[in-house]
Amino acid sequence: MDFSGIEPKAFDRNLFHMIDDEWLLICTWDEENQRMNMMTASWGGFGILWNKQVCYLFVRPQRHTHKLLEENARFSVCVLPEEQRAALRVCGRDSGRDTDKAAKTNLTVFKTDGVSAVKEADVICILRQLYVGELKKSGFLDPALLKNYPIDDFHTVYVCEIEKILKKI
Ligand SMILES: Cc1cc2nc3c(=O)[nH]c(=O)nc-3n(C[C@H](O)[C@H](O)[C@H](O)COP(=O)(O)O)c2cc1C
Repeated sequence: MDFSGIEPKAFDRNLFHMIDDEWLLICTWDEENQRMNMMTASWGGFGILWNKQVCYLFVRPQRHTHKLLEENARFSVCVLPEEQRAALRVCGRDSGRDTDKAAKTNLTVFKTDGVSAVKEADVICILRQLYVGELKKSGFLDPALLKNYPIDDFHTVYVCEIEKILKKI
């Protein structure tokens, strides 16, 4: 289970398929509970901003991950193989506030580049937050989109520098 670093421009996955169908796993350290937390995410993107290679993530304020992202400027986003779909569902349903998701899913937590990640991943992105901001109701130009926010829980957007991409070899 070794990983090697690859240049983001050499990353040859279809990003639309990866984010929308394979899903991302946001892995953050939980200092209070002394464990790693994992949250499934499928809204986000990869791109270029401020001449940097970045990853955009959108996290609702009620997620435990939201609090943990306030405490961890650096963290990882993992992409898991299809056989881990059940684990991804658990991480997208249960909250790390009251659940040790690593124990529940049997995923193997390890440290790389100073952040927590998952050994079963095919891809690990090491990220560093550059910008944090809240989506505002007044900014929505298509009112149909507001159906995503029945309780006005507008996402916080995180723009993160991609420090490194690790690929399983
Ligand atoms: C496929 C899938 C994609 C999801 N994408 C997101 C997302 O992009 N942003 C978000 O805030 N929640 C998203 N969720 C919901 C969180 O993963 C879920 O609420 C999770 O339990 C939060 O965990 P936490 O409280 O430990 O942070 C998604 C759930 C699933 C199943």
